Amino acid sequence: MRRTPATLLRVTALSVLAGALSLSFAARADDAPKPFDVKNNFRNICGFCHADYGRKAGKGPQLMNSERTDEYMFNRIKNGLPSRMAAFGSVYSDEQIHLFVKFIRALKEGEEPQNP
Ligand code: HEC
Repeated sequence: MRRTPATLLRVTALSVLAGALSLSFAARADDAPKPFDVKNNFRNICGFCHADYGRKAGKGPQLMNSERTDEYMFNRIKNGLPSRMAAFGSVYSDEQIHLFVKFIRALKEGEEPQNP
């Protein structure tokens, strides 16, 4: 590899990044594990299609008061539906997906959604 100024800059940027990453891992190791924040994840990830925490229809259906079974919801979240909804099985653990289902089940009109 030729050591042009651009290469040097890139190498420096990479090592700074690596340093920052190892620092943040070191800091994390000291913290107690944080409980999974379903509400926040729902807002940021699912909220794009399921409006108002799933209390209203958006690009995806309303989830509040769904007549689907827990198992149906679990499978939809885990496996998605081609060209309609992404599969989240590689993003969230089964345990986390169960928490999403619990969160959805507890949704009520006019009440601020809560983490289960
Ligand atoms: C790109 C848009 C999109 C995103 C992002 C998305 N969904 Fe969906 N979701 C849909 C669509 C569209 C459907 C309807 C699919 C069908 O016909 O079964 C659906 C269906 C569902 C269902 C089944 C509801 C029912 O009554 O059929 C559940 C539960 C669900 N989504 C939960 C989630 C959760 C939890 C997340 C975030 C982890 C999420 N979705 C993210 C679009 C999305």
